[in-house]
Amino acid sequence: MSIQKTFTQFMIEQQRALPNATGDLTLLLVDIANACKRISHTVSRGAMTGMLGSAGTENVQGETQKKLDIITNDIMVDALEWTGHLSGMVSEEVDDFIAIPEQYPKGKYLALFDPLDGSSNIDVNLTVGTIFSILSGTEGVDATLEDFLQTGAEQVCAGFVLYGPSTMMILTTGQGVNGFTLDQDVGEFVLTHPNMTIPEDTKEFSINMSNHRFWETPVQRYIDECMQGEEGPRGINFNMRWVASMVAEVYRILTRGGIFIYSQDTRDTSKSGKLRLMYEANPMGYIVEQAGGQCSTGRERILEIVPDSIHQRVPVILGSKNEVERVVSYHLD
Ligand code: AHG
Ligand code: MN
Ligand code: MN
Repeated sequence: MSIQKTFTQFMIEQQRALPNATGDLTLLLVDIANACKRISHTVSRGAMTGMLGSAGTENVQGETQKKLDIITNDIMVDALEWTGHLSGMVSEEVDDFIAIPEQYPKGKYLALFDPLDGSSNIDVNLTVGTIFSILSGTEGVDATLEDFLQTGAEQVCAGFVLYGPSTMMILTTGQGVNGFTLDQDVGEFVLTHPNMTIPEDTKEFSINMSNHRFWETPVQRYIDECMQGEEGPRGINFNMRWVASMVAEVYRILTRGGIFIYSQDTRDTSKSGKLRLMYEANPMGYIVEQAGGQCSTGRERILEIVPDSIHQRVPVILGSKNEVERVVSYHLD
């Protein structure tokens, strides 16, 4: 009988291939995987635990928090603060960066996360997820705000966990993208999707069409051309999907290609897009690029943006290479 490779085994094998690896990253990722197993269990119990619905509070972005936004944030913080692998954390749900409590050792990494992505879907029982980004910190020293303000290109590792029909973890440490499925009976993630790649071409776009009138001209032009199908300048029919969970859209794109757009729009000119750079766009951008796709604001590569704050927003255009390049070229026109 062949036994599938577990996530821990996969990480240890990758670590052995690197001459200076200490195993710290492997241990950190196992802790993150364990936290996400707990989140998976919590969200799967749905209404039975009384945890659906709004918490009646707002986060730093002015968004109403779901009870599960707060619970999943607490699960991540509780699972990671004591481990000795981190010198600080950033969460979508916490205004300031999260310091490691005094009594615990300060490790060489920083973790940034969106504990529950797509949380508007939680009450309607659709796919949600957790997104995380790992940056280098300084061992033995409390992180400062400036330590987090690194470009996406400097990420050590990025991943997301999808709580859908099956629970999956998608991960890159800069050597391609691998997908693991949670075996719920055994409690282990097993390697089911090695070397995931995004087709360069696609006939499927993903955008919230209700915002059409607010988009910038290049995005309107691109989507309008797709919508004209065989009769239009593209000469092909396009399909559309919008789950309103970035984790689900990116997973679909990793599986069968596609383009995802959440661009800047004119609804609120004080905001540069909706998605957050440090714990949504950067980790997803790293994963998509590692799978052969592209990730841009339309004007620059997401992974090269020098952040000025931890909750900064950015326009995001990601997915199949040739389509992202086309949207970027429309921005240049
Ligand atoms: P979050 O639940 O972490 O706030 O993120 C939701 C994001 C993203 O996952 C999704 O692509 C987008 O918001 C959906 O936005 P609309 O509701 O505007 O379509
Ligand atoms: Mn999110
Ligand atoms: Mn969230």
